[in-house]
Amino acid sequence: MQRSHYIGIKQIMTNSISLSYKNQDLDFAVMQGTLGSECIDIRKLYSQTKTLAFDPGFMSTASCKSAITYIDGDKGILLYRGYPIEQLAKHSSYLEVSYLLMHGQLPDDGQLDDFQSIISTHSLINTGLLKFIEGFRYDAHPMAIMIGTVGALSAFYHDSTDISNPRHREISAHRLISKMPTIAALCYKHFLGQPFMYPSNDLPYVPNLLQMLFGVPTEKYVVDEDTVKALDLILILHADHEQNASTSTVRLAGSSGANPFACIAAGISSLWGPSHGGANEAVIKMLSHILQTGKSIDYYINKAKDKKDNFRLMGFGHRVYKNFDPRAKIIREHCYKILDKLDTKDKPLFDLAIELEQKVLQDDYFKQRKLYPNVDFYSGIILKAIGIPLNMFTVIFAMGRNVGWISHWLEMLSKDEHRIGRPRQLYIGEKARDYPTK
Ligand code: ACO
Repeated sequence: MQRSHYIGIKQIMTNSISLSYKNQDLDFAVMQGTLGSECIDIRKLYSQTKTLAFDPGFMSTASCKSAITYIDGDKGILLYRGYPIEQLAKHSSYLEVSYLLMHGQLPDDGQLDDFQSIISTHSLINTGLLKFIEGFRYDAHPMAIMIGTVGALSAFYHDSTDISNPRHREISAHRLISKMPTIAALCYKHFLGQPFMYPSNDLPYVPNLLQMLFGVPTEKYVVDEDTVKALDLILILHADHEQNASTSTVRLAGSSGANPFACIAAGISSLWGPSHGGANEAVIKMLSHILQTGKSIDYYINKAKDKKDNFRLMGFGHRVYKNFDPRAKIIREHCYKILDKLDTKDKPLFDLAIELEQKVLQDDYFKQRKLYPNVDFYSGIILKAIGIPLNMFTVIFAMGRNVGWISHWLEMLSKDEHRIGRPRQLYIGEKARDYPTK
């Protein structure tokens, strides 16, 4: 039988931790941030002990230092550059939040005007990219087109991909924020088979997106203010969330020196999964499925609790929040307001969503595991209510998160200590063996 050696924690002092392993005492520094958990600095663990830390899913691993976003999952706190998400949601706009995330400070009026004007002037994409998008199958998922198109930006805008040049990095960041709504709308228009709509640089960010998504060349598109507010809020709430799967993917891709467009395409790919950004789409699919089958909500709640069944309630639970997700609290109020005003054919679906939310919040299984409705539960419902097509939900999430990815990429490259990301493994395969020869 294989013996395990245990590392015993001998002592925790204020700024170091002493471990004993195979009769050897080792000291590791304990690092303190401005808020949140302290970290044991195990960078020398391997060189000193020839052992590795095992942490699949990164349950206990801080992969970097960051000054962008702070989350306290137990208390339900989310801060962007120190500002509570509740205050930003109430007083700010997506572009102001974008400036804040990228630069670390809120812009003054002049800085915000300049930023808005830079972002609007980069909104066109090279016409070669239109042909590229036209090459996708008519029924391709918009996320698939988005991943390909954002990656392809590196083939069209390679004049700004010298990542060692801060000005190149800034231009790429502006291009990405500016072109993302154009690309998102193009993906959708291609899926619909409708003519592409050009961006209007005189429109603000969200109205411009809406006219590109829903406008047609033959009719004047009138932007609905409630829809603009709801969408701007969704973008703010999704703008960053520290080292989640997609952001970590962007950092890992960027750590090798890959260009920014390739890194963001990698982030979009990671976001697409139903355990991450794909959850908002999965919520509506699940609700529609429940409606179609005619089975009770209790049936599906029990199914989600059954350990022999893989079914999970989409839009519930979060890796970090073991309390109500603060974003979900904000968006929940808006969701209720929007649903109150609506009387659409989707009313049964929305009624079902609210009934499910109420039942889950009362259920012991979910209470004990601290599984609350997450932001995707409500954003899925709002997006549906304001007429965003189902297959565009995760595209909207990607548009919002884009600036978070960019800010992390910029932060990583501005630090001297950044190194290529290279996790290790616990090898459990065959030992060395000889190739059979005849
Ligand atoms: N429905 C039913 N049970 C659940 C759910 C759910 N949605 N989520 C977690 N659980 C249960 C698990 O079965 C597990 O139970 P156990 O302790 O009896 O084994 C326990 O709660 C802990 O779950 P984990 O999978 O260990 O939690 P983890 O942190 O790894 O996963 C995740 C978090 C992926 C979000 C998970 O809750 C989930 O799959 N939720 C549904 C998908 C979803 O809504 N994703 C969006 C996340 S938010 C975002 O990306 C913006």
